[in-house]
Amino acid sequence: MQFSNVYDDDERARAYAKLEFPGTCYLAFRDLPALIAEHVRGRAALDFGCGTGRSTRFLSELGFDAIGIDIAPTMIDLARTADPNGRYLLVSDGDYRVFEPRTFDLILSAFAFDNIPGVEHRAEILRGLRRLLHDNGRIILLDCTPDIYVNEWASFTTRDFPENRHARSGDEVRAVMKDVDDRRPVVDLMWYHDAAMAAPQ
Ligand SMILES: C[S@@+](CC[C@H](N)C(=O)[O-])C[C@H]1O[C@@H](n2cnc3c(N)ncnc32)[C@H](O)[C@@H]1O
Repeated sequence: MQFSNVYDDDERARAYAKLEFPGTCYLAFRDLPALIAEHVRGRAALDFGCGTGRSTRFLSELGFDAIGIDIAPTMIDLARTADPNGRYLLVSDGDYRVFEPRTFDLILSAFAFDNIPGVEHRAEILRGLRRLLHDNGRIILLDCTPDIYVNEWASFTTRDFPENRHARSGDEVRAVMKDVDDRRPVVDLMWYHDAAMAAPQ
């Protein structure tokens, strides 16, 4: 199955660029400042799958020297438009050679791994990101749990996609984001916790 990144789409990128932290998104990010304060030392941060820069700016506001990377050109263009003083880089999938090893104290990935297919591909990306971390660095993966795709939420509706209930790890699932103008469903990948956390060796 060929999975296509729904964020590589100009209309969706423009809609996403207006998104901040309403509803369920607020809950998703709410506990990060305390977790980061407890576990992260140092201020160099990479925002993997930064999109239009919402999560990068979140890190900057916490006092990080943050760089965002993404594979979708329009998302990166709009991140730069929204935040001309920020640093946003377009990367090829899995290619992080632009960075020296052991550069970052924190790598945050907010809702990017929901869009990454293949257990081995995911593990390879994680191995690549781990090489960019200082010895005591931390990676935080913030992603949708399966509950998102089978319930109704302040920020998402899935009632039109009952087939989500039968999805296994790696299968496509659909949800409509209620906080953006683009009401076409996003196509994500379902990852149950054990498969999602298949740790890179
Ligand atoms: C749901 S958006 C989240 C954007 C941002 N982190 C936020 O919270 O606003 C997911 C982003 O991950 C990016 N993405 C998907 N696969 C990726 C990959 N293999 N490498 C880097 N970015 C990726 C998409 O292009 C998209 O911009």
